[in-house]
Amino acid sequence: MEILLHHDYLAQALSREPNATDLCITKNCKSWVASTTVSSVMQKLSQEHRKKVKSLLASLSVVTPTAGDLTEALKDDRFEENLTSILARNCGFDAVISMNPEKFSSDDVPVITPEELQEKINGSADAVTGVKLLDIPASYHQILNDVEIEMADTVRSGMFILGSKVSEMEEKIAEYCQTKFAVGVSSGTDALLISLMAAGIGEGDEVITSPYTFFATAGSIIRAGAKPVFVDINDVTFNLKAEHIERCITSRTRAIMPVHLYGQCADMDPIVELGKKHNLTVIEDAAQSIGSEYKNNRSGSLGDMGCFSFFPAKNLGAFGDGGVVTTSSEELYEKLKILRVHGSAPKYYHKIIGGNFRLDALQAGVIKAKLNYLESWTGKRRQNATTYNQLFQQNALTQYIQLPPEVFLRHVYNQYVIRAGNRRDELRSFLNEKKIGCEIYYPLSLHVQECFKSLGYKKGDFPESEKAADETLALPVSHEITRSQQEYVVENIRHFFLGN
Ligand SMILES: Cc1ncc(COP(=O)(O)O)c(C=O)c1O
Repeated sequence: MEILLHHDYLAQALSREPNATDLCITKNCKSWVASTTVSSVMQKLSQEHRKKVKSLLASLSVVTPTAGDLTEALKDDRFEENLTSILARNCGFDAVISMNPEKFSSDDVPVITPEELQEKINGSADAVTGVKLLDIPASYHQILNDVEIEMADTVRSGMFILGSKVSEMEEKIAEYCQTKFAVGVSSGTDALLISLMAAGIGEGDEVITSPYTFFATAGSIIRAGAKPVFVDINDVTFNLKAEHIERCITSRTRAIMPVHLYGQCADMDPIVELGKKHNLTVIEDAAQSIGSEYKNNRSGSLGDMGCFSFFPAKNLGAFGDGGVVTTSSEELYEKLKILRVHGSAPKYYHKIIGGNFRLDALQAGVIKAKLNYLESWTGKRRQNATTYNQLFQQNALTQYIQLPPEVFLRHVYNQYVIRAGNRRDELRSFLNEKKIGCEIYYPLSLHVQECFKSLGYKKGDFPESEKAADETLALPVSHEITRSQQEYVVENIRHFFLGN
């Protein structure tokens, strides 16, 4: 539950002895306060009680009204109450907490007393009625104030493209991914394209990759002018099966692009070995795998370049599009930086043709702020995967569904994907009826996509990819979901298969 504390409650809570700010810190609620409330409350507090505000702000999140909110609140003489209602409505909060609910005229959002809130919390703690596959605003309470500091810096500086915010983010990402360098770019797709360009891959070249991935993996190879050569996946990890690769290497092969699908690394040792043996560049499509590890090394540090996406649904998502390329090669780093700005070096002099692959400073700031939380979120995702595994086993469901095994420590579960055999589509509809978000990543293997017809592949060429496309289903696993929500998911899957 997300609640907005009206100033009358906050003033009372702060002046009570001892520091009785229980509602602001309660475990079952995410409490917000308007920045305007903080200033008005401060004016009314004694010197002694003012000291408490600082510690209170550590557990509350602050929401700042826009000029539009303030103007709307001026519609009559109940400014304070109007503003609280307007903010709660515009931010999608569940309730306003006030000592005097009768003072409020709008019924957009329920206004309740602290006692009513307590009753609500006690009564509804376990009543789950649905689970979203992903709930991005659910993290705002934790991150928004940090993100706003970064965004305000950028807006105040007027430096919106590249610049110091992007460089600071790049340094932090390189350190996190255990590489020497990182280059912020406009999206995960562009990270793949610019990496291919930096490796000098183009017309007439072949790049070996997986057919069971997001479109951008193969799409970027074609956009670079080269040809994707597909190799089937391992049926357990859903990633490139290294044993299939060597027989597909020709005199035109220039690179291997393994995908760390769902957040688990591909088996990289044999891939890197083949790369060395045949002088091929290894470009990791690490879009879904930030923080994942293979034999204690982070994804993005395993090949020559690692390509990450900051699409909002990723484990580390921006407030829009963004991406980054990691590398420990100084030569590739310098080339990536030039390609990112149309191949310009020095400015307006072009020895090579690049593109506009620049990253916005606003997005870099969001990533920089959120990166501080990534390790704890990854821990939570991994814990959620363990909980699902246990619940599915306890409910005797493993004969109906196949769980996602962790073959290479550590899986970061961008997706928790089960196989549900030939009942997958039925299960998906059933879960959707129960308001459980679930999704198929991906329903059609790339080798049979219409736009790739000219590559000459046909149905049956990659049986494991095709089977995965028919059987897999991603369940909610984000760091925000609760154990009761997971129990609700598993209970419904049990109803579906066992009818009880
Ligand atoms: C495996 C994979 N590769 C590439 C991309 C492309 O990233 P973006 O959406 O940031 O362009 C994605 C993102 O969905 C992805 O999942």
